[in-house]
Amino acid sequence: MDSARTPTNPTGNPELADAAPSPQDPPVIRRKDYRPFPWLVPETRLDFALGLDNTRVSATLKVERNPAFEGSRDEKRTLRLNGDGLSADQIEVDGARFGDWSMDGSDLIVQLPDEAHTVEIVTHIDPSANTALMGLYASGGMLCTQCEAEGFRRIAFFPDRPDVLSTYTVRMAGDKALFPVLLANGNKVGEGEGADGEHWAEWHDPWPKPSYLFALVAGDLVANSRPFTTRSGREVECNIWVREADLSRTDHALESLHRAMKWDEETFGREYDLDLYNIVAVSDFNMGAMENKGLNVFNTKYVLADNDTATDADFDAVEGVIAHEYFHNWSGNRVTCRDWFQLSLKEGFTVLRDQLFSQDMRGEAVKRIEDVRILRAAQFPEDAGPLAHPIRPDSYREISNFYTATVYNKGAEVIRMMRTLAGVENFRRGTDLYFDRHDGEAATCEDFISAMEDGAGLELAQFRRWYRQAGTPRVSVEQAVGDSDVTLTLRQQTPRTPGQPTKGPVPIPLRIAVHSRDSATLGEEQTIVLRLAEESFTLPKSGPAPVVSINRGFTAPVIIERDLGVDDLVFLAARDDDPFARYEAMQDLAVRHLVAAARGELDEAARAAGKAALRDAMRAILTDPELDDAMRAELMQLPSETYLFEAMASGSGKDAQLADPGAIHDEREQLKVAIGVMLKRELEGLYARVADIAFDDPAGRGGRKLKPMIAAFFAASDPERAAAMASRQFDAADNMTDRQGALSVLCGLEAEARETRLTAFYDRYKDNALVIDKWFTLQALSLHPEVIAQVRALADHPDFTLRNPNRVRSLYMAFAANPRGFHSADGAGYRMIADVILALDPINAQTAARFVSPLGKWRRIESGRAALMKSELERIADSNALSRDTREQVSRSLAR
Ligand code: PHE
Ligand code: ZN
Repeated sequence: MDSARTPTNPTGNPELADAAPSPQDPPVIRRKDYRPFPWLVPETRLDFALGLDNTRVSATLKVERNPAFEGSRDEKRTLRLNGDGLSADQIEVDGARFGDWSMDGSDLIVQLPDEAHTVEIVTHIDPSANTALMGLYASGGMLCTQCEAEGFRRIAFFPDRPDVLSTYTVRMAGDKALFPVLLANGNKVGEGEGADGEHWAEWHDPWPKPSYLFALVAGDLVANSRPFTTRSGREVECNIWVREADLSRTDHALESLHRAMKWDEETFGREYDLDLYNIVAVSDFNMGAMENKGLNVFNTKYVLADNDTATDADFDAVEGVIAHEYFHNWSGNRVTCRDWFQLSLKEGFTVLRDQLFSQDMRGEAVKRIEDVRILRAAQFPEDAGPLAHPIRPDSYREISNFYTATVYNKGAEVIRMMRTLAGVENFRRGTDLYFDRHDGEAATCEDFISAMEDGAGLELAQFRRWYRQAGTPRVSVEQAVGDSDVTLTLRQQTPRTPGQPTKGPVPIPLRIAVHSRDSATLGEEQTIVLRLAEESFTLPKSGPAPVVSINRGFTAPVIIERDLGVDDLVFLAARDDDPFARYEAMQDLAVRHLVAAARGELDEAARAAGKAALRDAMRAILTDPELDDAMRAELMQLPSETYLFEAMASGSGKDAQLADPGAIHDEREQLKVAIGVMLKRELEGLYARVADIAFDDPAGRGGRKLKPMIAAFFAASDPERAAAMASRQFDAADNMTDRQGALSVLCGLEAEARETRLTAFYDRYKDNALVIDKWFTLQALSLHPEVIAQVRALADHPDFTLRNPNRVRSLYMAFAANPRGFHSADGAGYRMIADVILALDPINAQTAARFVSPLGKWRRIESGRAALMKSELERIADSNALSRDTREQVSRSLAR
């Protein structure tokens, strides 16, 4: 990172910033090197003879020269078909055996003399040996596929790049008993019985698509089915396919799909374009879900939900992911990506679309706060660490590593800013134009920006920096109060990130209001746009003692730095009419106190004063009769230790400060004790009010959210009382939200009730993998002093396996997110995560590589832990058998 500042690296290229690229480093792919593919593939025919451990694939490609390709005669003749672990059993061109081919690494190269040809290649694959879960694999006796980003090349030799669009016809044949249901993209156009208990089906997808959207499923499945009628009156058959035992848990997914279909018609004018929409749930899946055309494949976690097994938050997640994948039908499938550097074109936009949908379904304020919390927990640290990259990266070694919070969540924030700048109606004009202009194409982020300029009437020249620059801008605020107005001087600065030593100012839209502490009415809101590095804005005062409310609704993904007095923050927390601003003021109050305390800057008096201010603000929230309980729960939430880590590690250059997770944890726990003691009466009163609300009472949801939060304060201040409360709640629970909430409190306590309830929970749900995942997670996340030993023991539990990504994440992602366990001062937590990476890498590299980033925080942490983390990264790097995925992440994390 340091060399990035020196004049020897004037280009700002991350690769040049790496001191000595090791010979093991996989090659770099660069955005600027994009070239069209020399061939078009208008039609593709795939023929599968299915078997769990031996599947024969015959792929027939109609190819013709691409007039848009410019190159030498040789380049024009060369058809490069990507493969990964494949060998060709047979190659035919235009119906005859063909010899003019060669291998280049794992790609197959064919030289074709004429304008158009038919190429047929036969391969064999073993789905049951596929533990990477990319390509065609077996999961619980069924066969399914995952092709994004580069999985199709594990199935057939093909130009496996998103700008090669083809119509697919897929025939599959297999044992009818093993695979009674045969699905692929599009519509079923034929089926029949064969010899020896075989049957077959043929599917055709009329919409040209890139290979990453191909899907096939074969298995013993049943569907929950209900048609949706589109606004133009077409009936769409909607199916949620699951194993029979799971059928009763699919209603919510199906209803969510219908809601999403309707919403997209109303909000974005987008109608569905096939007569069939299939969703299949599989229990082995690397990600959340996949938007394959007409045949989404989902992680069971985002399909199955009923009150006995899923929490309120799980229900929300199912609804959100179902909607997300559905929305991809337009933002991703009808308009796809030219190359993987454009990933945020589909992902950022689609995340924004699903966020807006969920806001409409369940209330804007709470959903916005949740989304900002996710951004701060996952994306801000990424932007501040060694893996920082722009939402449109310039280079990568392994594309799987770029399915990040930056591309997804910051990408959504960037498009949300365009919406703020344009206004809702103009934004819609922009998206209409975008869909209209690029329907059926593989587009770029630049295409999206241009459509916004032309359709929404925005001028986005400077705005394009948001696509190019990594790092979270910091905006400092200075205020000067005049007789009738307030002048704000705003300064923006984006810290340097790997490969990007200098940054320019970006346009930052800020919703803002000037309140008065001594006036009953609140100030009016307006939107200002900070464009320069430094700019002043004069706003009218609405009364004496002005208090500025800024970045309301979190209109810009930036960090606001300002020295607001405690009284002002308390005022905003209690009174602001923007719910996000209230939340933010509470967070600021707590962050300010906790970071100062963790840095050792507070004497006894200052410490007591800080706690008193928080007590007063918290009391106002606990007792405010106007607040609904879901929002109350948001306001009560103390900033997470990750967020405090970011705040404590802020500053750069000689002002750089390092985070001390141990001190953060202790101070935060102390604050919980103080609140539990000082507000005992208020907390109890609140608990008593919500404890026994019936499950289906409309107020029930907010109440369920509050209970474990209240109990968590008591867990710190009065563990015995908390154990009693939580045990009672657990025993009386008639739903998973209450049961899991209670168990999460118990898990952190050294109480007998902990063991008895953990056992009861396990026994009740031992046949439900998703709930057993929760059982692992609750223990891995707990505040228990013995958490490391407990996680170690859980890894030896008969239900634990490295082969199922949900299970791996349920134990180890949870543990890596447990500040007390992961940051254990002796380094045992770091070692455990490094061990997992090494063990998982040969099984599932994509999932293994996702565990690297927690260790990448070493540069911003106090020196003792920094050395321990770094040495674990080095230990991983020393392995000479690393996957491309893990190798890239580890080198970036160690690079100077
Ligand atoms: N494209 C999927 C989504 O965001 C995510 C995904 C990526 C799934 C890669 C699988 C593999 O909706
Ligand atoms: Zn997506």
